[in-house]
Amino acid sequence: MYGIKSPLPDADRKVVGEALQGALVDLIDLSLMAKQLHWNVVGPRFRSVHLQLDEVVGLARRHADTVAERAAAVGFSPDGRARTVSASSGIAAAPEGAVTDSATVGTLVAALGAVITRMRERIAATAAPDPVSQDILIGLTADLEKYSWMAQAENTS
Ligand SMILES: [Fe+2]
Repeated sequence: MYGIKSPLPDADRKVVGEALQGALVDLIDLSLMAKQLHWNVVGPRFRSVHLQLDEVVGLARRHADTVAERAAAVGFSPDGRARTVSASSGIAAAPEGAVTDSATVGTLVAALGAVITRMRERIAATAAPDPVSQDILIGLTADLEKYSWMAQAENTS
């Protein structure tokens, strides 16, 4: 990146940058999926699920910004373009049209699970090259796991 001196040696910058870029894509797609479900959920639990999904949107957007700016800070250009997200997200496409409340929560559980698995791989990958970036990934994964727990706890019926 022009004019940005990375605090990391080049090999580490690449590993860390790619981990942060992967996290960025997954978080952007999670925010888009949660909004799609927020608009399309139907059923007796509409209100609670509808509101819960906007919490996930806010969380994903906030963390997306943090990982993108961390990537920039280590000298790796973050790429949040729609076509990049579409090509490299680890989340399955949201269902089209209206979705029942139970199916909505199930879709959210699956999406969070997929993202958490990938985030834990990134946590492992960044441990040695950059504990500062790793700390960011650990913090956001704790938030994702909290929402994963709450979503799973809702879907017991
Ligand atoms: Fe809304």
